[in-house]
Amino acid sequence: MEQTTSTETQHAQHAQHAQHTPHIAHLSDVHLLESRPGWSGAGYAFQLRFVSFGRRLDADERRERLLRNLVAARKMDAKHVVISGDLTEMGTDVQFESLGEVLDASGIDPDRFVLVPGNHDAYSDGEAFRRALAGPLARWKAGAATTPGKIVDRGDVCFLPLDVSVHQAVTRSGGVLDGASAAALEARLADPALRRKATIVVAHHPPYGEGPKVWQWIDAMRGGERIMSLLERFENVHVLHGHLHRATTRTIVGTRSNVFGAPAVVEGPVDQTRVRTYELRSGVLESTGIWAA
Ligand SMILES: [Fe+2]
Repeated sequence: MEQTTSTETQHAQHAQHAQHTPHIAHLSDVHLLESRPGWSGAGYAFQLRFVSFGRRLDADERRERLLRNLVAARKMDAKHVVISGDLTEMGTDVQFESLGEVLDASGIDPDRFVLVPGNHDAYSDGEAFRRALAGPLARWKAGAATTPGKIVDRGDVCFLPLDVSVHQAVTRSGGVLDGASAAALEARLADPALRRKATIVVAHHPPYGEGPKVWQWIDAMRGGERIMSLLERFENVHVLHGHLHRATTRTIVGTRSNVFGAPAVVEGPVDQTRVRTYELRSGVLESTGIWAA
């Protein structure tokens, strides 16, 4: 099936965003650092510099960026706040503690959040996000990716948060949709009860690859083609993702399904928000631009 892709431009930014309340505020790629000493040693410091190449290693600035974007989401009174992965830079316990502190400081009800981990959240080990959900992120667990096929039913919209993160060397940045997760996802979408409302899959990686095959081997989601197939077969299913660090839209032509990517909170001017917003119109999810204020 034909697909079209576009990258959002400045023209898509809200000109009149004070006039309406977005249904969903979408943040991504926060890349929080530790605000107090955690891991140490030359090996860790080297890996941290490698994965954070091109970004200032300033823990306070990264917290400020996240808080600024969350405060914007609170002020716009978004009904749901999605953060689509790379919550932390290395997935250490102290970085997740820092995330919990900023989420708390935002003043947003934890039950409004949907959280999934990204490849950066699994660089320390493959259990870090799960540990965090049992500890500093426990209050946000209800809306977080945990088990394959998990549904976060928010009444008018149903989220399916996917964990496609995998522990790997810092030289790779891919994701994996394993067979069990893909089968569980398909079973959920086939459920007639779900078809009555907009269904939103949240994953860190886009379900399609970009660039040369060798780059896709390093950076893409393995198994993502199964999600693309589901978008063609099931009505009114959408994907919200991050990873690309820019706003993108891929429309599955002939359907009402879209794949939306959000810009990275960690990039751009510190004093500017980078929240992508969406409306539900007649039950269909539509992007309303980037909340840049
Ligand atoms: Fe990222």
